[in-house]
Amino acid sequence: MARFSIPKLGFLLLCCLAAVTDATYMKYKDPKLPLGVRIKDLMSRMTLAEKIGQMTQIERSVATPDVMKKYFIGSVLSGGGSVPAAKATPETWIKMVNSIQKGALSTHLGIPMLYGIDAVHGHNNVYKSTIFPHNVGLGVTRDPQLIKKIGDATALEVRATGIPYVFAPCIAVCRDPRWGRCYESYSEDHKIVQLMTEIIPGLQGDLPANAKKGVPFVAGKKKVAACAKHYLGDGGTTKGINENNTVISLNGLLSIHMPAYINSIRKGVATVMVSYSSWNGKKMHANRDLVTGFLKNKLKFRGFVISDWQGLDRITSPPHANYSYSVEAGVSAGIDMIMVPYNFTEFIDDLTYQVKHNIIPMSRIDDAVKRILRVKFVMGLFENPIADYSLVNQLGSQEHRELAREAVRKTLVLLKNGWTITWQGLGGNDLTSGTTILQAIKKTVDPTTQVVYSENPDAVFVKSNEFSYAIVVVGEPPYAETFGDSLNLTISEPGPSTIYNVCGAVKCVVVVISGRPVVMQPYLSSIDALVAAWLPGTEGQGVADVLFGDYGFTGKLARTWFKTVDQLPMNVGDPHYDPLFPFGFGLTTKPTKQN
Ligand code: BGC
Ligand code: BGC
Repeated sequence: MARFSIPKLGFLLLCCLAAVTDATYMKYKDPKLPLGVRIKDLMSRMTLAEKIGQMTQIERSVATPDVMKKYFIGSVLSGGGSVPAAKATPETWIKMVNSIQKGALSTHLGIPMLYGIDAVHGHNNVYKSTIFPHNVGLGVTRDPQLIKKIGDATALEVRATGIPYVFAPCIAVCRDPRWGRCYESYSEDHKIVQLMTEIIPGLQGDLPANAKKGVPFVAGKKKVAACAKHYLGDGGTTKGINENNTVISLNGLLSIHMPAYINSIRKGVATVMVSYSSWNGKKMHANRDLVTGFLKNKLKFRGFVISDWQGLDRITSPPHANYSYSVEAGVSAGIDMIMVPYNFTEFIDDLTYQVKHNIIPMSRIDDAVKRILRVKFVMGLFENPIADYSLVNQLGSQEHRELAREAVRKTLVLLKNGWTITWQGLGGNDLTSGTTILQAIKKTVDPTTQVVYSENPDAVFVKSNEFSYAIVVVGEPPYAETFGDSLNLTISEPGPSTIYNVCGAVKCVVVVISGRPVVMQPYLSSIDALVAAWLPGTEGQGVADVLFGDYGFTGKLARTWFKTVDQLPMNVGDPHYDPLFPFGFGLTTKPTKQN
């Protein structure tokens, strides 16, 4: 008996193996095949539901593994502040992303989802990450190599949490500081913004020499896909009103707001986000000429175009007044991925209906899906969909904090200097990580120097103590997006009274922490020295480094500092240009000690 059964078993086993290989070999899963072949093969296998799923981006709070599987969801995001747990560790982030990913991979084609987040000045939603200065400060440095290193560090910190995609950089050219998002802009001058697109190769990696124009590029597991935003004219709205109307000629639009997109596309940017704003009354989310005609056809951008958060809803006012119209207008304009982010069944139902009734042609859907898959293939997402823990130590690493501190030093602009800063400047062997300006000052001064901190000092207090010098730190309260729009640009109390009380009694330097130039003219005569520190992030030590003379001031304004708000908008080159401090201004000092 035994003699007969052995060959039989061998035969059966061989059969099984053959069958298994046959069923699992699919061209699109083979990384050795050319990109085009893989995309074509995969698309030939996809149903309409799977294609529309790829075009759908939902918020993590609604992205259960079941939802991912049932609706073939192509992408998930963290909205601002949307985290898996308070003070979540990198491991917690990775577990969350992987669990959503497993839902996506459990479908029959197993197309990985792409997880995106706003890492706009470092990995800013994540606890213990390195927070770099905001763009308004970085523009001051005019240093593309520095910005590239920041991109590189940010990519590592984002990957440390299992995330492969960031909604950055914002390449807005802020033309009016009344805009609540002016701090997200590198400069009022498009040339500086263009220079700063060097963050893209930092985030994504250097484009190979033979790269085709417009094709997205992401160099593997330590890099992330980037997103140039917000296309187009977000920084040019009337009175700086957020999401409003940019009134400008086509020539003005192309010469001020477009150039940095051309640089970004040349550098292989993977995605472009559309702006909420309108151009001459037409919503960008419905602007086919600019999205399809210009970006895709003329500039040959081959990555995907993503909407902003509920960007389709906001095509109508009030938002969501006619959602099926919004879907039609937005998808027809050429938007490929829709940041829905919550009501995804409504989006999917509307788009499915419109394709089935030939309102939106299948070719438009195929264009969108092809672009999304191209980015996913290029970045190696099919080969490495699941994140491991190998990079967790990159989050908030000492090296990144040192880089951020260096960046802070270079973002400071000395606007007025009435004293020589030789104030017992002692150089630092301090290895701080995450430092407030106050901590930094205490760490920097000589041990015999007494530092007295008062949050809201009155004149009597200042006069009755024999202070040698005062450092007054004032500024704007935190804000984002529309909440930051301001028609007066004043610093709020107790800022002004502190300046008067302190600077009236003792020699003082005022450090302004703000997302943009603010009203300063009334105080200037009472201030001995004035420093613009913008929004510096976690490494406050960089402020003390320069204030105490261990490093010199080098920064030059990348924005015009106005005298009064009624001058606005006022940008360099304007006929009515009469600034308090002009674009490019900045006093320089030498370090008082050699380091
Ligand atoms: C904002 C998004 C943000 C989200 C957070 C929205 O209103 O536009 O930027 O991510 O809220 O929930
Ligand atoms: C902002 C985008 C951001 C998105 C996701 C929107 O409100 O305008 O810049 O990427 O939210 O948080």
